[in-house]
Amino acid sequence: MSHNLLSGKRGIIFGALDDMSIAWKVAEKCVAEGATITLTNAPVALRFGKIQALGEKLNAEIIPADATSLEDMENLFSKSMEILGGKVDFVLHSIGMSLNVRKKRAYTDVKHDWMQKTFDISAISFHKMMQTMWKLDAINEGGSILALTYMAAQRTFPDYSEMAESKALLESFARSFGYHYGIEKGVRVNTISQSPTKTTAGSGVKGFDVFFDYADKMSPLGNASADECADYCAVMFSDYTKKITMQNLYHDGGFSSMGMNPAVLDMEKGDTEEV
Ligand SMILES: NC(=O)c1ccc[n+]([C@@H]2O[C@H](COP(=O)([O-])OP(=O)(O)OC[C@H]3O[C@@H](n4cnc5c(N)ncnc54)[C@H](O)[C@@H]3O)[C@@H](O)[C@H]2O)c1
Repeated sequence: MSHNLLSGKRGIIFGALDDMSIAWKVAEKCVAEGATITLTNAPVALRFGKIQALGEKLNAEIIPADATSLEDMENLFSKSMEILGGKVDFVLHSIGMSLNVRKKRAYTDVKHDWMQKTFDISAISFHKMMQTMWKLDAINEGGSILALTYMAAQRTFPDYSEMAESKALLESFARSFGYHYGIEKGVRVNTISQSPTKTTAGSGVKGFDVFFDYADKMSPLGNASADECADYCAVMFSDYTKKITMQNLYHDGGFSSMGMNPAVLDMEKGDTEEV
């Protein structure tokens, strides 16, 4: 059901790989809510992913960009403004990749050059994105910028490894750039801290399925799905959230406020029925 929340708005969605991707759902939701968008992903993801099908369905152009490349970023924002017919109103950064996790290196034995690459892809790309937008004056007054993050930035989840520090850095960029963007341009910058979600990036974390069930039991409202995340992103891109900025916003069914839920103890005993 559409509420026309984003009628007349233009946006760019990073990170739709396949129909499990959170960005995929956000792109669909934004268009359903009246926005026109461009889609972007790394050139390699364009070859192996399914983004072309999404582009056709949403009538959205796809512009390849490695988010670590300033040149690609400039091209992406210039082309998007041309295609969409003006400055954008919203942008979603939905990018994460850890080289040490992918290669199964223990946290106590990471390769630090891989760690730097992980930070570049998963966090510094957010700064590069905003700096490029800033220099090109690519976003309208009252616009909204979002990145997706995870609570491992605040608390320890051992298997999340160096992605924890990536997310801490990402969230800090939202606050620091949010200050400058707020003062100079009236633009909001926030991060949404999402529940574990079954996607390519999510499932790359060791023990993901067991942890997914644990988080679902621990959260009074259960895990937030990718579709529900898309709903939240649409609200954050809309004019109904104009004074929310520099925040890390939990979208996790209440998980981040929980200490213990008896349902989890029952789960450990092998009794998975609700209490
Ligand atoms: N899945 C979860 O459990 C979960 C929970 C909280 C937050 N998040 C965050 O949500 C975001 C989206 O992840 P997802 O779960 O939808 O998985 P996903 O694998 O579908 O998306 C990750 C995307 O990052 C893109 N990417 C990787 N390297 C890139 C580069 N150099 N340049 C441009 N794009 C690049 C990939 O191509 C992919 O589209 C990530 O930031 C992730 O950390 C995921």
